[in-house]
Amino acid sequence: MRISIFGLGYVGCVSAACLCESGHEVWGIDVDQTKVDFLLDGKSPIVEKDLPELIAKHRAAGQLNATTSIEDAVANTEVALICVGTPSLPSGALNTEYARRVCEQIGLAIRKLDRTFTVVVRSTLLPGTTRRELLPILEKSSGKTAGQGFQLGYNPEFLREGTAVADFFAPPKTVVGAENHATAELISALYAGLPGEFHVAKIEEAELVKYADNVFHAVKVVFGNEIGAIAKSVGVDSHRVMDIFCSDTKLNLSPYYLKPGFAFGGSCLPKDVRALSACARQQNLSTPMLYSLMGSNEEHVKRSAKALQGFGKKRLGVLGLAFKAGTDDLRESPVVELVETLLGKGFDIKIYDRNVSLARLMGANKRFIETAIPHLAELLVSNPNELASHSEVVLVTYRDEEFYPVLKSLSSEQIVYDLARIPVADNIHAEYHGVCW
Ligand SMILES: NC(=O)c1ccc[n+]([C@@H]2O[C@H](COP(=O)([O-])OP(=O)(O)OC[C@H]3O[C@@H](n4cnc5c(N)ncnc54)[C@H](O)[C@@H]3O)[C@@H](O)[C@H]2O)c1
Repeated sequence: MRISIFGLGYVGCVSAACLCESGHEVWGIDVDQTKVDFLLDGKSPIVEKDLPELIAKHRAAGQLNATTSIEDAVANTEVALICVGTPSLPSGALNTEYARRVCEQIGLAIRKLDRTFTVVVRSTLLPGTTRRELLPILEKSSGKTAGQGFQLGYNPEFLREGTAVADFFAPPKTVVGAENHATAELISALYAGLPGEFHVAKIEEAELVKYADNVFHAVKVVFGNEIGAIAKSVGVDSHRVMDIFCSDTKLNLSPYYLKPGFAFGGSCLPKDVRALSACARQQNLSTPMLYSLMGSNEEHVKRSAKALQGFGKKRLGVLGLAFKAGTDDLRESPVVELVETLLGKGFDIKIYDRNVSLARLMGANKRFIETAIPHLAELLVSNPNELASHSEVVLVTYRDEEFYPVLKSLSSEQIVYDLARIPVADNIHAEYHGVCW
């Protein structure tokens, strides 16, 4: 394919050289004449392993060209990759100025084409930026409509500086955000033959994936360092601890606990987060991430309470009171906290939880239910259908097949508020809302 690459920084230079290596023909464009001259001289404008050799090789072969003329580059290519910088503004917000400007310039060049052209954004952008900010600029300056006169996609970059060339040829994944199949196919073809999973997504999903990745990497570093600081303060080898931690690919390094849902609770997580935070404080350590966990969890409960109040209905049915399916343990159940908050706001509540109803009659939790939450025990109903006929809003707190027929029986006048991403959401008549989807 003939590709123009806008912005010859880390991402642009590495993409240019590696796409040449994959057999494509590339035009590099930058506003900085020095960077363009470097490429024209067959040299790398940045320090990056293996890059000088690739640039020299493909420049000599005539596969790699460079210019400051956007019009020439667009005229000579079928697809543009936007790799300009998106730095922070002094406020911390994202500066999209360079991306907007380059789109305006590309649009003016597209205006002169009598064929279709594809614009692919690779710069890191907050979800919605490509569609809300860049698409209108491209349409205005080109005088053409997205999806007809030109195609638009978003394709985040996952390279790490220092190993960028190796990362290009062995990416952790390839993510293609596009509005239609043809554009997704075209962008995917740029990376044909590369290993790793390919994901075709909506443009906004592809934009947010990049942030989820980078922020998670930051969370991992901070987490490792806070555990390390605590380990050192109590005379434990942090690397030995984290080697064992990382060997657990069932609960630790796995998708488990990573899917958005409701707040954490139960008899272990809150207690242990509090204890380790107290331990850090005793050691005079500042571990802000650890300290922030209980507060963040609390905010999630408050958000849900607010959303439920926002429906303006008072008759609420709660499917599931324990902190997760298959248990009668109500200790530190965030659902208990949510229900108590709503009771305080005047909600008329009925609760169905088979395990809790059984525990109320017998078992270790009988005493807890009678002494700690007698006001909630009174709200328990023995049949989920009774709850359905009572409720204007039904709150589902965990996934349980027993709940699904009841949910399907609800009418379009009723509302379902889902904390668990139930798999039957598409098959219910009631108005559906998820806690964070
Ligand atoms: N550096 C990384 O490791 C990395 C990894 C993944 C994603 N990203 C993202 O990719 C984007 C680019 O990052 P980078 O580190 O390569 O940036 P960079 O600052 O190194 O390079 C950006 C280049 O864009 C050029 N430019 C600005 N406006 C232009 C215009 N109108 N036309 C042509 N060129 C123009 C600049 O002169 C500069 O050379 C950013 O959004 C960044 O967040 C970076």
